[in-house]
Amino acid sequence: MDAISVIRTKRDRGELTDEQIDWVIDAYTRGEVADYQMAALNMAILLNGMNRREIARWTAAMIASGERMDFSSLSRPTADKHSTGGVGDKITLPLAPLVAACGAAVPQLSGRGLGHTGGTLDKLESIPGWRALLSNEEMLHVLDTTGAVICAAGDGLAPADKKLYALRDVTGTVEAIPLIASSIMSKKIAEGTGSLVLDVKVGTGAFMKTIEDARELASTMVGLGTDHGVRTVALLTDMSTPLGLTAGNALEVRESVEVLAGGGPADVVELTIALAREMLDAAGVKDADPAKALADGSAMDVWRRMIAAQGGDPDAPLPTSKEQHVIKAPASGVLTRLDAYDIGIAAWRLGAGRARKEDPVQAGAGVEMHAKPGDTVTAGQPLLTLHTDTPERFEYALQAVEGSYDIAAPGTDFTASPVVLE
Ligand code: URA
Repeated sequence: MDAISVIRTKRDRGELTDEQIDWVIDAYTRGEVADYQMAALNMAILLNGMNRREIARWTAAMIASGERMDFSSLSRPTADKHSTGGVGDKITLPLAPLVAACGAAVPQLSGRGLGHTGGTLDKLESIPGWRALLSNEEMLHVLDTTGAVICAAGDGLAPADKKLYALRDVTGTVEAIPLIASSIMSKKIAEGTGSLVLDVKVGTGAFMKTIEDARELASTMVGLGTDHGVRTVALLTDMSTPLGLTAGNALEVRESVEVLAGGGPADVVELTIALAREMLDAAGVKDADPAKALADGSAMDVWRRMIAAQGGDPDAPLPTSKEQHVIKAPASGVLTRLDAYDIGIAAWRLGAGRARKEDPVQAGAGVEMHAKPGDTVTAGQPLLTLHTDTPERFEYALQAVEGSYDIAAPGTDFTASPVVLE
């Protein structure tokens, strides 16, 4: 077998055989197939697609590239959730302790920011002392003692995906449904969760811009999970506008803690509760009431224990940015659009995300929103506050937010998109 014949098959719109797929994933993981060859194959897959059999085999080969975890020693059923990535998507932070407070165990392997979308680990690292990197034993211990753990996937889990993900990020091959589905599902299946809820984002701030693409991605992933014995369900949710009122690391932790304290923005609370219900249902936990567990403080108790178990101080003040810049509403009226992609780019340019893989992120950087679509605004009131430690970034971020919102005449009839679409 050789890489060139595999690339040619897909370039010429052929179907890859099981042997070709097994060989190329294994050889790439071992360094025998070069990055430039895998990049060419990824581009051919992006352009020409893969059928269900090819996607299933590609996913199985990625799982087989590493170890599989096993949570069968836990006394509770396991439930995990995965979001395909969005702006202001801090839902994992309140959701994991909430579902644990309701009786399931939540092994949440999370990632870092990718492009304009934020990463759960970057957000949590703004809590002084908190550690994302745990050994498998530490992860099991935190899960067993607190009910939830949010950490980085170990090096042994789907190593083929680690290499492929980094390569796709820098070769314009992220947005391919077969590659996204296999990337996400290989990690989730190898992680060993019993059930999985997928939050498939749709809209300007998501990788899937149309509902049709999001449906196809969702059904591909549900099929992969089900075939591997993981009870998998998917919700399609709106990502045309950011979730909540913050995009940025410490800013989003602060908002998540507000949700755990029984407050927080309505859209974040609604999605957290909707996903919690799906996770508990998929895990077979009956008679739990997530809304009650948020209101009575039991989710907050799990959060505090979970943060402390990973070295964090839940009472420590969160970092704030050194500089702020306020953007005021230019007119009075109804806010009818606040674009998720533009706000994500602005947060990223302010320092909340990375330009290169090895760059550090700024804990306090990001965008605070003072109104959401559907809200009435008055000329001169603060609309957005930009946060950064490095004020030379303001100009570049301001370019991103320039066309990011529309304000219609006062009294305009406008209904914002629902949070859960399907
Ligand atoms: N998240 C992943 O884990 N993989 C992708 O390809 C895209 C989002």
